[in-house]
Amino acid sequence: MKKLLIIESIHNDGIELLKQNKSFEFEIVDKTDEEFLKNKIKNFDAVSVRTSRLSKEILETATNLKIISRHGVGYDNIDLLETKKKNITLAITATANAQAVAEHVLFMLFNIAKRNNMYDDTVKSGKFNDRTKLPKTIELWSKNILIAGFGRIGKCLLKKCKGLEMNIYVYDPFVKEEEIKNKGGIKVDDLSSSLNLMDAISIHMPLNDKTRHLINYDMIKKMKKNCILINAARGGIINECDLNKALNENLIFGAGLDVFEKEPPSQDNPLLKNNKAFLSPHSAVFTEECLSRMGIETIQNVIDFFENKLDNSKIVKI
Ligand SMILES: NC(=O)c1ccc[n+]([C@@H]2O[C@H](COP(=O)([O-])OP(=O)(O)OC[C@H]3O[C@@H](n4cnc5c(N)ncnc54)[C@H](O)[C@@H]3O)[C@@H](O)[C@H]2O)c1
Repeated sequence: MKKLLIIESIHNDGIELLKQNKSFEFEIVDKTDEEFLKNKIKNFDAVSVRTSRLSKEILETATNLKIISRHGVGYDNIDLLETKKKNITLAITATANAQAVAEHVLFMLFNIAKRNNMYDDTVKSGKFNDRTKLPKTIELWSKNILIAGFGRIGKCLLKKCKGLEMNIYVYDPFVKEEEIKNKGGIKVDDLSSSLNLMDAISIHMPLNDKTRHLINYDMIKKMKKNCILINAARGGIINECDLNKALNENLIFGAGLDVFEKEPPSQDNPLLKNNKAFLSPHSAVFTEECLSRMGIETIQNVIDFFENKLDNSKIVKI
């Protein structure tokens, strides 16, 4: 029997799949602090992990661990050096997330363009006749959107934006022009000089030393006054302090953030009080359907690993 530790519970569909497979015994824990996990992880062959941190210190004690199955696709919460050193396989739910995140981006785009609850509030507060005096909303039709990062989510978003008849630009230095063109996008080689063309910009790249604070005050200054900026990738790619300043100076129309430099953001983060920021609590994948897919894929990856049939596309190359 292999032993699987599930750190933070997952969708019941994943648990049911596990129960049907007789080769595993498992334990679900909701405590995620380092001291607890250091002691707990010792005897397990596999772990599934959501966003809690698997530090070097925790992994050092994981002497039996052969696979970390990430419930998600980002893995900046895992110490990669120690994972590699111990020859632990790191798997992700590569096929589960993209649709939900791309839909969340559209949800944010529409919300900001249509000024959130303005119309709803107007009707419900008995001010229907004010309708012609309200600030104007904006359309997405025929507007230019820049998709920055053209992986699983970026590609999925492109398809949805095509349906809205938007002009789609793509910035991703690692993807060939031909692939972008074949999918109906226009490749942008230089991010900075393309910004003044865009009505919307959506970030879909990983957070790393090259992308940290890629979007700062100087970059936002280059954007159109009506531009909507969305980040549903990782906090830290946009400099939040600069973004708040830029929103206060009306440099862009609005910003949608699902992710933050510090999660949860501190209560004194000025973005929490900024009317031009539309925020969600790192919840782009929290649809019933996506959580079910992620739960199943997280467990299937563990099963496939021990049956020597885990697909390469699910394994992170460290
Ligand atoms: N909000 C959420 O809940 C949520 C859910 C899933 C994924 N994510 C995040 O979304 C992001 C994208 O996920 P994905 O599954 O599409 O990843 P992916 O690995 O499929 O795609 C990432 C793309 O970014 C590109 N890229 C890398 N460095 C870049 C750079 N400097 N400039 C431009 N492009 C660059 C890569 O070439 C790749 O095509 C990740 O940061 C992930 O952590 C967030």
